[in-house]
Amino acid sequence: MRAEQRKLRLPERLRWDHNAWYRRRLLRRLPSGARSALDVGCGLGDLARSIDAAEVTAIDADARMVERARAAGGDRVRWIHGDVLTHELGRYDVVTAEASLHHLPLRAGLARLAELTAPGGLLIVIGLYLTSTPAERAVELVALPANALVGLAKAVTGGGGKPHDAEMPIVTTAPTLPEIRAAAAAIVPGARIRRHLFWRYSLVWRAPELH
Ligand SMILES: C[S@@+](CC[C@H](N)C(=O)[O-])C[C@H]1O[C@@H](n2cnc3c(N)ncnc32)[C@H](O)[C@@H]1O
Repeated sequence: MRAEQRKLRLPERLRWDHNAWYRRRLLRRLPSGARSALDVGCGLGDLARSIDAAEVTAIDADARMVERARAAGGDRVRWIHGDVLTHELGRYDVVTAEASLHHLPLRAGLARLAELTAPGGLLIVIGLYLTSTPAERAVELVALPANALVGLAKAVTGGGGKPHDAEMPIVTTAPTLPEIRAAAAAIVPGARIRRHLFWRYSLVWRAPELH
């Protein structure tokens, strides 16, 4: 229960989807006109369907998620049921992982995402982390009321939506930001890591070009 212990639970109607909030930021970072993109741990496929690339592949280890993602549309997306760590995949101009890296062993997972990123390609992770430092706890003092206010605004305007699908696989632990920074320094040196207000971080890494 490491990752879940840090949050105070808002009433159901005030909860909102932090992943969707940061998805907009992720999509703004994507280059236009990419040839190929891979979304890792695609869940219900909302991000994969939004990616602007000639060929979009989406993989998830949960058969039910893939079945529902496929049924929800997105004919141009190639949906794969499989484990990203072991499934045979290519290399992609863009690799995205939204709220899925913490489902994998951190270093093996990050190394696999880097391996799947083509030379010169872009890896973008929106991830969950476990609050661990005094500075992060101080930020939570702002995040908690801000979270409730956004939830209230969304409840009033009807823009909240479900924070979490009941069938979506979750894990209740996550690495700390120091662990993520150390892994990134070793595996994707030069990656830009930013902590965001609502319990998410982003990692953006450009794979080196081949010379
Ligand atoms: C919290 S959900 C996030 C789903 C989606 N990206 C989103 O943001 O709504 C994490 C997803 O990662 C998937 N997942 C976990 N381990 C995986 C693995 N080894 N390979 C592929 N997908 C995996 C889970 O099945 C789950 O659908």
